[in-house]
Amino acid sequence: DWAMASVIEEQVALIREQVGDERVICALSGGVDSSVAAALVHQAIGHQLTCIYVDTGLMRKNESAQVVETYGRNMGLELIHVDASEQFFAALAGVTEPEAKRKAIGEQFIRVFEKHTGGLRDAKFLVQGTLYPDLIESGGTDGTASVIKSHHNVGGLPDDMELELIEPLRDLFKDEVRALGTELGLPDEMVWRQPFPGPGLGVRIIGEVTPERVALLQEADAIVREELKNAGLEREIWQSYAALLADVRSVGVMGDERTYGNPVVIRAVTSEDAMTADWARIPYETLEVMSQRIINEVDGVNRVVYDITSKPPGTIEWE
Ligand code: XMP
Repeated sequence: DWAMASVIEEQVALIREQVGDERVICALSGGVDSSVAAALVHQAIGHQLTCIYVDTGLMRKNESAQVVETYGRNMGLELIHVDASEQFFAALAGVTEPEAKRKAIGEQFIRVFEKHTGGLRDAKFLVQGTLYPDLIESGGTDGTASVIKSHHNVGGLPDDMELELIEPLRDLFKDEVRALGTELGLPDEMVWRQPFPGPGLGVRIIGEVTPERVALLQEADAIVREELKNAGLEREIWQSYAALLADVRSVGVMGDERTYGNPVVIRAVTSEDAMTADWARIPYETLEVMSQRIINEVDGVNRVVYDITSKPPGTIEWE
């Protein structure tokens, strides 16, 4: 792709000029945008870049291991991997209100980031995967938008770290970022990864977030993703996931026994930009396999429902 090859060449030159021989840090989320931005900066300045990946304990099944493997082994990035899940669960104990969850998660993120980038106090730059639509959406291309995005994505940054931003994707749309990622040699599973919210499964457990509930949801969610992939629908669907109604229980019957368990919601939407979305017309056969597998394979779940709400009036996430 010559167009993307020339974007790379141009950005690499710009980044080298901007950075000189200073140190750069980057918070990786596992998502397309931060990964492509980091890969590009890595191509430009190599070991002057240090990335940090914070495992919040709220990622999907096996996701953190995959992310670390891909970044470390495939991309050769210098990576600080922090497993901070205990700390996040402690902060989320007793918290049920969605915005309170986001706040708790954002605060922990800053703490972890601060603690583990302590040795990088001399860093001058921070890489962010801000895209063109992010700038428009938050109402300006004057730099303030990046701050808003950073709050949304990584929960903001410590006040005493005065970092200048490097945003190599700020002129690009999502499809261009994907093409760029492919051109940079990133694996398909990363380039075609669905958007995933910063607070992760924390906003997909309706009710208090506990390690047991996360483990349960990870299993159900993995089934939804696997069956969507088996049906060949992965790239048509904008986002698809399972949510757990942790405080709701309903009666069912399995074998000769009455069950009293939690419902799992399957959510799948099509969208261009997440501003509006339509519930995905997944074939009944696929939904049926998802439902049967979830109930048979996930302990404590005895009912599966499909969310047929578009956005608006619904949102893509449940919280
Ligand atoms: P909603 O649920 O508002 O979501 O329709 C729109 C898009 O944003 C994602 N989302 C988030 N991303 N932090 C994030 O980084 C958040 O707190 C958050 N909440 C929602 C959501 O997954 C969808 O892609």
